Parts: sequence; structure tokens; C-alpha cells
Amino acid sequence: MDRAILIDFSYIIASALFIFGIKRLSSVRTARGGNGLAALAMLIAIVATLFEKEIVDFRLIALGLVIGSLIGAAASHWVKMTAMPQMVALFNGFGGLASALVACSEYLRTGGTGVFDLTTICLGTFVGALTFTGSVMAYGKLEGIVEQQPVTYFLQKTLNLIIFIGIVVLIFWTVNDPKNLLPYWIMFAAASLLGVLLVLPIGGADMPVVISLLNSYSGIAASMTGFVLMNKVLIVAGALVGATGIILTEIMCRAMNRSLANVAFGTFGKIETGPAQKGGQDYAGVKSCSAEEAAMILEVAQKVVIVPGYGLAVARAQHAIHDLSNLLESRGVEVTYGIHPVAGRMPGHMNVLLAEANVPYDRLKEMDEINPEFDQTDVVLIVGANDVTNPVARSQPGSPIYGMPILDVDKAKSVIVIKRSLSPGFAGIKNPLFENEKTVMFFEDARKGIESITKELKNL
Ligand code: TAP
Repeated sequence: MDRAILIDFSYIIASALFIFGIKRLSSVRTARGGNGLAALAMLIAIVATLFEKEIVDFRLIALGLVIGSLIGAAASHWVKMTAMPQMVALFNGFGGLASALVACSEYLRTGGTGVFDLTTICLGTFVGALTFTGSVMAYGKLEGIVEQQPVTYFLQKTLNLIIFIGIVVLIFWTVNDPKNLLPYWIMFAAASLLGVLLVLPIGGADMPVVISLLNSYSGIAASMTGFVLMNKVLIVAGALVGATGIILTEIMCRAMNRSLANVAFGTFGKIETGPAQKGGQDYAGVKSCSAEEAAMILEVAQKVVIVPGYGLAVARAQHAIHDLSNLLESRGVEVTYGIHPVAGRMPGHMNVLLAEANVPYDRLKEMDEINPEFDQTDVVLIVGANDVTNPVARSQPGSPIYGMPILDVDKAKSVIVIKRSLSPGFAGIKNPLFENEKTVMFFEDARKGIESITKELKNL
């Protein structure tokens, strides 16, 4: 068979596998297989691309492969699980930069071969550069290198709009006068500046949504680059990343009660500072308990819902909680897990951790499914979760989390919260659940706390 046809055929297979892989990612049960399919698709796409006639120097490719693999291996070893959102932000950024650089080098190499080619070169550069600098800013905010609070100034949105209009004009100029490189370089710089300016007014609490949006942009940039190179699999894969990124952004916006326009153009996610931030001095009537008392409360329960949060990830308590739920089940207690869509620090964070500990998938219930069950629940055991259970989201307009759907844990008969102190969660606000008369606090690291409850339960 002709080599070009074989390559095209491989690209179609790879594209189809990408789509089936993504489809399987939509359920926890099939997600692992879906990931495998997508990885196989990527392998097919890479191998097929290596047979493209334009590839002239395999030594450079091998060098890139070695350097990239070394950086990836080192990052997987050194980067903590809790720093994953920053890592994802950087990955998106590099994807955007790669697209912008490929588009740029094609422009410098060919000078643009027509209106369509020049337009895709410019759009690939624009979206890629914006994604890169925006992602680096998001990384900086999450890492605490850049100011986490929204940064605002006079006529901010107007300035952004003027830069955007300027970029559109520069793209038209480049397309109509391709021999003149100046408008292209100014457009490149302006797009990079716009990436920084768009992320600057967004606060830390909205950063996950921004990262998801930037992920989508990196896909759009890759798709544009696919058009520049006339590489079919890059067009399809980029479009898939773009579309799935937008869908994920929309899901996260709904979970955090934000509109996409608000996140993209507003000043949101401001982290409140106040007495609650300093360790909860303004709490009153908080009851605390020991491991033995927590075990006694659990011992008499018929139905227990475990609500994991970010603290479960920090303490790496997923195996300990699975052991405890196995013990409770062996004593006839019905145990399920209530999973909030933004518990932890990345989409699916709790699902990944609990899957790692082999918690059966049918025990995990999403927020909409578990919320109607809380009023028939004897004990809710909250493990390192805070914001996703905070009732002010329902009752306090003006709170940074007001309107965010939460797990209605306060409807259960009793609540045990395992965390180390009364410190606030990600949103930086007080949680009145801790002073609710139904609630007892067990102040301990999540893993140690659960292990000691399990030990006490065995002794009872
Ligand atoms: P948070 O509200 O952030 O609360 C986590 C709690 O875990 C803290 O109050 C902390 O209290 C406790 N903790 C930390 N280390 C612990 C340990 N070793 N043992 C026991 N407890 C520990 O978490 P959440 O309820 O999961 O809510 C997630 C928040 O993050 C939401 O506001 C969400 O919007 C935001 N967010 C989500 C994402 C995604 S996509 N999931 C991404 C970024 C941000 P102590 O210090 O007192 O122990």
C-alpha cells in the first residue's frame, strides 16, 4: 500500500481510538481502559507521523524524546500529588507554546502559502502564546509565586478588549502583507501579554476552572497547528482536547456556581481574610472527641456516609479509610462515599485516590445521588473535607462560596469531622458545620485518626 495512504489510515484509527478512549473516561469503571486506549492511539499517531516524508532528522527527535522523558520522569518522582493542579497548568502551557512555536517556524520557513495557511498560522500563534503565558500565570498563582488575590485596576476589561482588537487587526495585516514580519511579531507579543492580563484578575479559588479553560485553549491551538501542518490526527486530537476541555470547564463552573463568562472576564475567587483564617478563634461551642468516642458513635450506626476531601489526599489516608469501611461493613453497617465534584484540588481527585485503594466503584455516590440520602444517614464521617460541606454556601450571600452546591451533611443524625484543627479550607472561610450541635470534631491527621478509630472499633 502507498505510504501516504497507510499514514492516513493510521491517523483514522488513532482518531477513532481517541474518541473511544474519551468515551470510556466518562465512567470510573471503564476509565483505566479508556486511558490505555488513548495512550495506544497516541503511540499509533506518533509512529505514523515518524513516517511522514518531511521528517528529515531522527537524531533531533531522539534528543527531544530523551530530554522530554527525563523531565517527565523527574517530575513524576518529585512533584507531590498535592501539586498536581500546578503541574497540569504547566503541561497546558507547554502544549500552547509548542503549537505557537510550530506555527511560527512554519511561517518563517514557508512565508505562508495562502490566506488559509496564514490565517491558521496566526490563530495557532495567538491561541498558543495566550495559553502559554496564561498557564504560567496560573502556575505562579497556585504555587504562591504570584499574588493569589485578584489583581484589578482602572479600565482593566477595556484595556484587554483594546489588546484583543489590536491582535485581530495585526492578524489581518499579516495575512494581507505576509512578507512584512513586524505585525506578526507584535501580534505574538500582544497575545503573550493578553494571557497574563486575563489571568491576573482571577483569584486562587477559581484557578481550577481557569486551568481547565486553558487546557481547552491548548487543544484549540494544537488543532490550528494541525491545519498549518495539514496533519489530520493533530486537527482531530486538538479539537477533541478543545471540546472536552470546554465541557469539563462547564461542569466545574456548575459545581462552583460560576458562569463561564464570570470566570473568564470577571474578578472572582477572592480569598477572604478574617479571623477564621487565623485558626478559627471565632468558633463557639465546638465539641471534640477521641478515637474511642468516634468508634463508639460508628459502632451503633446502621448507615454511614464517608465524605472525603483534600485532607484525605494530604494524609494519603485512602487505604486507611478503605480498611475502616471494610471493618464497618463486616459488622453489617451500610457504607457509601459521598463525592463532591470539586473535593480535593483537581477534577476526579477523590475518585482517583479511592480507586487506588480499590474501594469498589459502586460505593462512590456523586453529590446529586447522595444528597437526598443524608436525612436517612446515621453518621457522616468527614475526612479532611471542609468547603464542600460548608452550609454558608446555602445561606450566606456574599460568601465566596455562596451558591456552590454542597454535600448536605448537616441533614444526617450525627457528623464526625476528622481534621487537624479548625483551620479553613481552600476558600479561607469559617465553616459553621463545626459548631453545629450534631457535629463532633476529631482533631488528628486523617490517616492517623482513621487508623486509631479502626483500632478502637476492633477493641469494642
Ligand atoms: P478544603 O475545603 O480545601 O479543606 C481541606 C481541609 O483538609 C482543611 O480544612 C484542612 O484542615 C484539612 N487537612 C489538610 N491536611 C490534612 C491532614 N493531613 N489530615 C486531616 N485533615 C487535613 O477541601 P475540600 O472540602 O475538599 O474542598 C475543596 C476546595 O478546593 C473547594 O473550595 C474547591 O473549590 C477548591 N478547589 C478544588 C479543585 C478541584 S477541581 N477539585 C481545585 C482547586 C481548588 P486542617 O488544616 O485543620 O487539617
